[in-house]
Amino acid sequence: MAHLDSYRKYLKEHLSQKRYIHSMNVSESSAELAKRFGGVDVETARFAGLVHDICKEEPQDVQYTLMMSSDLDVCTEERHAFKVWHGIAGAEMLRRDFGVTDLDILHAVRYHTVGRGGMSQLEKIVYLADMISAERSYPDVDVMRRKTKESLTAGMCYALRYSLQKLLHREVPIPHHTLDAYNENIQKLLP
Ligand SMILES: [Fe+2]
Ligand SMILES: [Fe+2]
Repeated sequence: MAHLDSYRKYLKEHLSQKRYIHSMNVSESSAELAKRFGGVDVETARFAGLVHDICKEEPQDVQYTLMMSSDLDVCTEERHAFKVWHGIAGAEMLRRDFGVTDLDILHAVRYHTVGRGGMSQLEKIVYLADMISAERSYPDVDVMRRKTKESLTAGMCYALRYSLQKLLHREVPIPHHTLDAYNENIQKLLP
């Protein structure tokens, strides 16, 4: 995509250096996963990965307004969890301000924080690329990378379990999208 440079420029101006590097890495990881597993255009994956956190550093009120003005379905648990707003707000910003109309790209951005049942190949790729990007250093990241290389389903199961454990530990509500995603993926791994 020739216009990737203009998005890189926007991100450089609107994100911290740390998150800009993260965005570049998720872009690269998304392209790599698309090449490895197929089923999605590599350049589309590169783009969706690049812009997944486009709203992450917008002020809370800006994210809230964007989220609530979008046509996307937002559940109660998401409305109460600031950490996940940027996915929904980012999708709406891409649609409203950048003219992105590809629903698969918008959904990949919208669901990169919570997942959902029935995720597309692109949605899974961006979700996992976000977890395994080059600068990530959480304790389980090597296992996460290995599982993702094995299959997108194995990666999603591991990633969702990790996310659910974090939510349970923090004693906060769990969006039903995340439970749907977990149940769907874990059932695929059952004998
Ligand atoms: Fe994010
Ligand atoms: Fe991210």
